[in-house]
Order: sequence, then structure tokens, then C-alpha cells
Amino acid sequence: RIVYVNGAYLPEAEATISVFDRGFLFADAVYEVTTVLGGKLIDFHAHMARLDRSLSELDLTAPASHDDLLAIHRELVTRNGVDEGLIYMQVTRGAADRDFLFPAKVTPPSLVLFTQAMALRDKPAARTGIRVASVPDLRWGRRDIKTVQLLYPSMAKMEAVRQGADDAWLVEDGVVTEGTSNNAHIVTAGGTLITRNLSHAILHGITRAAVLRLAADSGLTIEERPFTLDEAKAAREAFVTSASSFVMPVISIDGMAIGDGTPGPVAQRLREIYIEEAD
Ligand code: PDD
Repeated sequence: RIVYVNGAYLPEAEATISVFDRGFLFADAVYEVTTVLGGKLIDFHAHMARLDRSLSELDLTAPASHDDLLAIHRELVTRNGVDEGLIYMQVTRGAADRDFLFPAKVTPPSLVLFTQAMALRDKPAARTGIRVASVPDLRWGRRDIKTVQLLYPSMAKMEAVRQGADDAWLVEDGVVTEGTSNNAHIVTAGGTLITRNLSHAILHGITRAAVLRLAADSGLTIEERPFTLDEAKAAREAFVTSASSFVMPVISIDGMAIGDGTPGPVAQRLREIYIEEAD
């Protein structure tokens, strides 16, 4: 696989980053994960807008213009022959002597990209649905910034799998914030789609925004508000959204079946129209 590191396209074994890189030492870095379908990038400009927001919230320097970043994304897709999969892009505050203070602004940011070819459209889990386990949300208070501080989400997913589930739903004060790497949604008995409103509590998912738009276009009633874990367990349907899972039905929460315990029609329909639109 060819990866991109600070201006160079290299075989992955030859790519290097300084041990003093602040991404490595302080998780002082932000990232984006963009979907590739049929060799095309999905929602690229929305990912760039979110990247800009993450950068500015942390006073990080932009590594390149959107046009240049687009060219790098396209070049990697071509060089690696990716038809379906993901592109990961990370921007760090660069390499500097270890210090809790940010280094001088002249320190160049590090920019790393790599591709992950994988089937996204025809995931078996999309047919069976996934099981989630609730885990306390112990992340920091700025989850709207897409930082690489992913240790807690990683621990939460490990805990969920230990409990026999596939992923975790993170819960704070009785309300669901989101999944470990996806946004959480439920559908009530009355057919209303409920999803957590945007705030510092959750990542502002690009897929969430696209799916809400498609849901509204297809006439669904949408409520953007916090929902409790109990409300989720009593819902008719549940699902998650992300660049890697699109729309993924949730069939149980903490071992309790959601609806009849199979993927719900709203989630399945939204997955279909999301893929149709992306194609
Ligand atoms: N994760 N919430 C969290 C905490 C996430 O990490 C992600 C994305 C999402 C969904 O955002 P989007 O629809 O823009 O992918 C929500 C990526 C896919 C990851 O970390 O791999």
C-alpha cells in the first residue's frame, strides 16, 4: 500500500513520523475518515468543512488547501486502486521538543493519509443488524472536535465485545450520546426518528447530516434531542450512522431486543436510499 506522509507518496514500510510528533505524544491531532464508493469520494467537502472546524477549535495550522487535500485523496485512491473503502487523513501539530505548551506557530503540521480497501455496501452486519451494550461515556467534553484521542472509545468497544455485543452506546446521565465511532438514532413506536441534537457532546457526523436530509425528504418526522437509554430500549427501531457503516441497524441494546429483534424497515430503507444517492 502506498501512503502519504508530509509531501511524499511512499510504500507504507518506508513512511516515517518523528517520535517527537505531538500526535504521537499528546494525541494533539485531528482526523477525517472519508468513504470511497466506486472509486469516488463521498461528501468530501463536508469532511473538509468539519476538518477546518476541528483545526480552528484547536488552533492547529491547516496543512494544505482543500484543493491540494482533494488531489492527495484522489492520488491515493488511484495509486492503491481503491474501488470501495475508506481514506484516513490525520493532521497533527507537528514535531517539537516534548512540552505541554504548544510549539511556535512556525512548526509545520504533519499530514498523513492512508487508504483501507474494504467492502462497505455489502456488509453482512447490515443484513443481520448489530447488538450494542451501554457503557458510561467517560470521554472529554469536546466530542464535536474530531481528535485522535480514541483510547476511551476503543476501551468501550472492547467492553461491549466482552459483554457479547458488537459495539457500545455511550451513556451520560442516562442519555445516549453516540456510538464509539458512529452517531446513534432511534425510531419511536409512532414512527418518529429521534437523534441527539448537535452540541459539544457528540461528533457532528457527516453521514448523520446526509441521512437526516434523506429522512426528511422521504417524509419522516425528525426530532433532534437527547434520548434516554430507557427510551432507546423501548424504541421500535435503532440504528447508527458513520462513513464506514452508512446506516447500520441495531437489533438489541444490553441484550434487550429492539422491536422484533431484526433490522427495522426505516433503517433498511434509509440505508438503501443513502447508498443509491452516494452511487
Ligand atoms: N468515526 N461519532 C463518532 C464518535 C465518530 O468517531 C464518528 C466517525 C461518527 C460518525 O461521523 P461520520 O458520519 O462523519 O463518519 C460519530 C469514523 C468513521 C472513525 O473514527 O473511523
